[in-house]
Amino acid sequence: MKDFQNKIVFVTGGGSGAGFGQAQILSEAGCKVVIADIRQDHLDQAMAHFNEVGADVHPLKMDITNREDWKKAAEQVEAWYGSCPDILVLTAGVNAFGPAEASTFEDFDWILNVNLFGVINGLVTFVPRMIQAGKKGHICVTGSLGGISAGPTTAPYSASKAAVINLCQSYYEALKPYGIGVTCFCPGNMNTNIHEATMTRPANMMNTGYYESADSIEMYRRHNILGMDIREVGERLKKAMEDEIVICIPYEDPEKMCADMLQDMIDYCSVEGMKRKEARDKAGNKNDSKDEAELQSLRDAKAVGFAMAKKDLDWIDESHKF
Ligand code: NAI
Repeated sequence: MKDFQNKIVFVTGGGSGAGFGQAQILSEAGCKVVIADIRQDHLDQAMAHFNEVGADVHPLKMDITNREDWKKAAEQVEAWYGSCPDILVLTAGVNAFGPAEASTFEDFDWILNVNLFGVINGLVTFVPRMIQAGKKGHICVTGSLGGISAGPTTAPYSASKAAVINLCQSYYEALKPYGIGVTCFCPGNMNTNIHEATMTRPANMMNTGYYESADSIEMYRRHNILGMDIREVGERLKKAMEDEIVICIPYEDPEKMCADMLQDMIDYCSVEGMKRKEARDKAGNKNDSKDEAELQSLRDAKAVGFAMAKKDLDWIDESHKF
């Protein structure tokens, strides 16, 4: 995908963070953009920017887990622009962290509904429309490095992101004959508002096994600030679309980074591999790319109970509770 002029773009999570950065860069490249988000305040803040610069952007309040909302969104895009999107950017996502064994049904339901089914709903709604309209466009899904490697405190999140990375590979192969490209954007830390994710958690899914407090949210916010700027996020996604990259790891030497992260999975396959992994873990070499500031912020996390289980879960190992 090289020509962005007058292309219709639909960005979920476009009101904040990565989606807002992606919407800005695509709008500046000449696209007409719909930003879809569940939070009206995020849409209002983003629109204050787009109105100021005179961009052709429409806000749309919707819940990506609601299929009725997707049907209405498709009709609304058609009404605004006379056609379905050329570029679909499925970025909205949420997270909550805690020991896997503390996870409740509601932790899984919420995170997988948004991060996996929110993406599936977008694909099933718009891919057939894009094909029928003869669009030679692009599908972008925001995954995460967390979907390439799993961690003991990221079970629902990593599972959701691993699933969307896998989905993107299926869609990439399937959509080749139609001239529609697919990119799964897999960043690490970004400077966004994801620390506020719990604010959009549905009332019937509030039961969680994870500890969360004002202090742990504030610590997460300070960690996010160290992450990639959202305009760089948008630039890197656009470049990946131009280069037709299927899995975009937006850092130096993405192949090595991916191979390093997959090493755990490879090692889990054999007795020798398990020994290698144990030795690596003992040496504290997790093969990741965190700098000292990020490592310090992870140490701070423990001090405020970030990614730990609730204290009242008496069957959980003491070291996993706050
Ligand atoms: P953010 O919180 O700034 O933006 C996410 C947006 O999605 C918010 O405006 C939120 O209101 C919206 N949203 C949440 N649930 C929704 C729903 N059910 N329907 C419609 N909109 C909904 O967070 P961020 O970081 O920009 O998140 C974007 C994506 O980036 C997510 O998929 C996240 O998993 C991914 N990601 C984030 C990383 C980070 O360090 N912030 C790292 C790697 C991936």
